[in-house]
Amino acid sequence: MKLFNEPLPEEVDSAVRDLLCECFPSDREVFSHTRYWHGSVPTYSLVYREHNRLIGYIGVVVREIKVNNVFITIAGIQNLAVSAKLRSKGVGRQLMIEAMNEALGHDIQYGLLFCIPELEHFYASLGWIKTREKVMMADVKNITMFKELADGKFPRGNIDIQGRDW
Ligand SMILES: CC(C)(COP(=O)(O)OP(=O)(O)OC[C@H]1O[C@@H](n2cnc3c(N)ncnc32)[C@H](O)[C@@H]1OP(=O)(O)O)[C@@H](O)C(=O)NCCC(=O)NCCS
Repeated sequence: MKLFNEPLPEEVDSAVRDLLCECFPSDREVFSHTRYWHGSVPTYSLVYREHNRLIGYIGVVVREIKVNNVFITIAGIQNLAVSAKLRSKGVGRQLMIEAMNEALGHDIQYGLLFCIPELEHFYASLGWIKTREKVMMADVKNITMFKELADGKFPRGNIDIQGRDW
């Protein structure tokens, strides 16, 4: 697994976009041009390769969001993807764990992600919790989950992600 800051080397960026087109076919239009969902540039990314082929990717967008009107810094999961032929071997899990370890290493206390309800169980098995609070964002969809990366409790109250999802 390799960590990258932006910008990714062009050949890596291109291989990641190919992987995202494969894993999110309905968003091919976007991912054939950019990894930056809604223009959000990840602060760092992790790439997983096997036999020199890029088969796993995760981006992490560090953002200030407001919870109950107080700003907190979160590590937002962007574009977790594993090539279909190599799924169910724990690569997705490992990308999630390493991405959040890296965030904690930068003293970021919380993770935040948006996902389809079908994936709640997968993320819950990694310690993520579906919020029951109201989430304010430009495009409301999916469910929102958070993770406490250290001892601090995720604040309670309405969550305002301050714009569009990543
Ligand atoms: C989600 C994803 C990254 C998981 O990668 P992975 O390497 O297979 O993950 P792991 O091997 O660590 O864990 C696999 C588990 O994830 C869960 N899972 C994955 N996709 C799922 C789905 N669509 N619905 C329900 N559970 C799912 C299952 O519990 C699965 O366990 P199983 O293999 O025993 O069925 C991969 O399926 C993927 O790229 N999917 C398409 C893109 C996507 O939806 N990304 C997440 C965006 S929020």
